[in-house]
Amino acid sequence: MLLEDQIPRIQKLISEKLGGLPKNALQNDMVMRTTFMRLHRMLPRFIRIAVGEATFVEFCMANRDRLLSFKGAVQERMQETDPESQTQDKTQTDLEMEEQMKELQELSLKVYLPTYPPKPLVLERSRGAAIWDLQGKDYIDFGAGIAVSSLGHQDPELLLAISEQASKLWHTSNLFLTEPPVRLAAELVEASFADRVFFCNSGAEANEAAIKLVRKYAYLHHPEDKREILSFDGSFHGRTLATVTATSQPKYQEGFGPLPGGFDYAPYNDFEAAEKAIGPQTCAVLVEPLQGEGGVNPARPGFLKHLRELCDRHQALLIYDEIQCGMGRTGKLFGYEWEEGVHPDVLTMAKALGCGLPIGAMLCTEKVAESFKPGDHGTTFGGNPIVATVARAALKKINTPQMMAHVIKQGEAIRGRLHSLNDELDLFGEIRGKGLMLGGVLHKDWKGRAGEIVSTALKYGVLVLVAGPDVVRFVPPLTISGDEVQSGLERLTSALKELA
Ligand SMILES: Cc1ncc(COP(=O)(O)O)c(C=O)c1O
Repeated sequence: MLLEDQIPRIQKLISEKLGGLPKNALQNDMVMRTTFMRLHRMLPRFIRIAVGEATFVEFCMANRDRLLSFKGAVQERMQETDPESQTQDKTQTDLEMEEQMKELQELSLKVYLPTYPPKPLVLERSRGAAIWDLQGKDYIDFGAGIAVSSLGHQDPELLLAISEQASKLWHTSNLFLTEPPVRLAAELVEASFADRVFFCNSGAEANEAAIKLVRKYAYLHHPEDKREILSFDGSFHGRTLATVTATSQPKYQEGFGPLPGGFDYAPYNDFEAAEKAIGPQTCAVLVEPLQGEGGVNPARPGFLKHLRELCDRHQALLIYDEIQCGMGRTGKLFGYEWEEGVHPDVLTMAKALGCGLPIGAMLCTEKVAESFKPGDHGTTFGGNPIVATVARAALKKINTPQMMAHVIKQGEAIRGRLHSLNDELDLFGEIRGKGLMLGGVLHKDWKGRAGEIVSTALKYGVLVLVAGPDVVRFVPPLTISGDEVQSGLERLTSALKELA
């Protein structure tokens, strides 16, 4: 079969199945290649059999300008990409969608446990750093599902990874081996200080595993009075009983006592206080190299080194919680790598590791790993083959010098624009953080208004987060483009002007 003759058919498929390609994907060979691989799978069977995937992809790559030369083939990222909706009766659709949105909001209030405040939006679809609600309104996503969707939405390589694995094997439990989690563990070991990995399903579970591991290590190597875990004020480590106890913020602990014993706290970034708090009783120190929920607060230069030295002096283990600041968010694979020579004994990951699918991981050295024997810890889903396949694709794509350079560049762009905005509105006392994990600390006149800023920003089509009442948090996809940064910040500026 001559593919040349199939060009109109391929164009029709591009328009029907892909709904137009985002303009910023066109120059990215890898993205285009995976897109054409996906397209091959959508071809009628007889064409697929006649033309193998490799030939099809090479043909499409060589002819991409011609294939995308029809109207609607290429979309600006923020344009409506569903051609059908453009021809619909907008008013009728709007009304129906508004009804549906209200109905879902009311239903959620009836059937969900009231653990979250009422939700302001019902989101429906997404692409890149853009996300649409049920009514078709678009938002620039500066929150990435709380620092999770680091490759943006609908990343073609992740889509390919998930669909390939989903058609092979979904789940086996940890009674059996499958290839994706073993390979993922090996890749994490290769990319880090660690020798061994344990997979689970969330950040809290990764920290829970770390807490159990360091306690077991202490049980095997030290007398009974060395069991204390030290964490820091403003930290956030999760919502299970042990991790909420390690979380040194009273608002998360209130009402849940009696809390497990053996936890102590010290002020973050206070060298002297750490020296006093770490002693023979300390079994481990648990610290976020850049605190997220506690206000986007980076460790001061030298603080992690100080903790490492104190841990070594007192034979305590050092645990980094990199659940939010890891996976390239700060412009390095791990946030602690901004400081030299401060490897941990244990490190926890989650959030962006699965780029939107639930996975957590605890990484550790051989010395510590030996404390766990079969049966000491486990989970049904941890390292599920689908999630592990996606995490492998995510790690491969994120852990590159190009991606890290992009994170630094876009982080600087956002920081620079926030400074200019500040010159105009005098809003932030400080803009802190690293890479694409930034926090605008509200000036005293704006104190306590972070929530209000987030709600008003929604009206103007931009999703931002709070990190406590006084900090507006920016954790967009690491792949965010310059255009998306600009558009998001313009929308935010309009929102802030309404509030000023
Ligand atoms: C630093 C840190 N640790 C732990 C957690 C808990 O993760 P999860 O919500 O996946 O349990 C979070 C979540 O925000 C976090 O930011």
